[in-house]
Amino acid sequence: MVTNSKVQAITAPLCLSDEQLRKCMTLFLAEMKKGLGKETNAAADVKMLPTYVRAIPSGQEEGKFLALDLGGTNFRVLLIDLKGRSVKMSSKIFNVPQEIMVGTGAALFDHIAECMYRFMYAEGILDQVLPLGFTFSFPCRQLGLASAKLIRWTKGFSASNVEGEDVAKLLKEAVKRRGDFDVDIVAVVNDTTGTLMSCGHSTPTAFIGLILGTGCNACYMERIENVELWDGDTNEPKEVIINMECGAFGDNGVLDFIRTEFDQHIDNESINKGNQKYEKMTSGMYLGELVRLVLLKLTEAGLLFGGKLPAVLKKKDVFYTKYLSEIEADADETVTRSHKILRDELGISYATKEDAELVRYVCSLVSSRAAILAAIAMVTIMNHMKRPMTTVGIDGSVYKYHPKVHTIMTETINRFIDPNLKFKLMLSEDGSGKGAALIAAVAAYQKAGKPA
Ligand code: GLC
Repeated sequence: MVTNSKVQAITAPLCLSDEQLRKCMTLFLAEMKKGLGKETNAAADVKMLPTYVRAIPSGQEEGKFLALDLGGTNFRVLLIDLKGRSVKMSSKIFNVPQEIMVGTGAALFDHIAECMYRFMYAEGILDQVLPLGFTFSFPCRQLGLASAKLIRWTKGFSASNVEGEDVAKLLKEAVKRRGDFDVDIVAVVNDTTGTLMSCGHSTPTAFIGLILGTGCNACYMERIENVELWDGDTNEPKEVIINMECGAFGDNGVLDFIRTEFDQHIDNESINKGNQKYEKMTSGMYLGELVRLVLLKLTEAGLLFGGKLPAVLKKKDVFYTKYLSEIEADADETVTRSHKILRDELGISYATKEDAELVRYVCSLVSSRAAILAAIAMVTIMNHMKRPMTTVGIDGSVYKYHPKVHTIMTETINRFIDPNLKFKLMLSEDGSGKGAALIAAVAAYQKAGKPA
């Protein structure tokens, strides 16, 4: 079935040759350099934003910290108690209703402040003013560690009057409007940076942080001499974490040679058309939808579901990205989960075993391409950094739950890595919480004039 030439004709554009991948690596490196350059940064898509986070945590950090995590499917408030390498956390997940994601900025920040109040009330800490690390996982131009201006929304958010504003200030104002508690915002952090810091807490070779979840982005430790826009001090360590915002790779059209009609469709139908083209090929917000579009085309060509288009498949976003992980978890010879999802979850009663096999094949093409493209970015960074050993701290639902992504990424990196270099991909859980708290801890010590 999978060798059916008509199926191949439709799905072949999702399979990338080594030659195409090498070209992606060359392009990615060029975009990195463009983002790092003083003269070229303004026009660069991959913004390479200095984070003002310089050092991996020392392991000596101590105290109680709050963290806020906004940027994925959920919003979380966390209370973190650090004592050297031991970390105690309590947290609560809150929903960010769709109308708030796309409403006004004031309503969004009021909602965040309300959730913080509820959490702090439940923890009995309303009377304390704790240092806060705010994980805000969108492209921000940092003005310092505790101040960050949103460049533009990504991942389905579009709340008004936030782009161009300092999000720490907006949060402070929302807390002030309520007047029933207070916090000390000491750091605004991207989730990639939190993930790298969290991994670095236990692993000294952690130099890259990757998120492969709702969105896709990476950060890494760059030498300050390469960061032409750096305006902070040049004390030791002469390095700074760069939030790459590589989800925007390809926005200028350089990836058009691998983008398919399905990618084009996703982009056209998105609320940020023309933006985040690489993210739209790699991240959880889009992978299920990509599969749905391929399934539609196969059905229209009479190759799936006996050519009878199930009404359900006409609806956008009905094929969840979590289905890819579930379907591909079946052993190679069985398609039980695929069949069950088609029949029980999507209600396609006439789906046959052959249909289930073809659906699984499509899922595997879409998820492999995502893993391969994510790996391409990782190996390009490693070959650029030239560190003998790099641990990549990774978080996000696609990496965490998909049964094959880790292996495909590892194989791809091995194919393209400079043979003198070694690497390891490591799940780094809760960077947005623990990592943000570690950064807040270092910042709070510095603010108080104590060494970290
Ligand atoms: C999007 C955001 C980026 C974030 C990533 C993962 O790409 O722009 O800041 O790190 O999603 O959440």
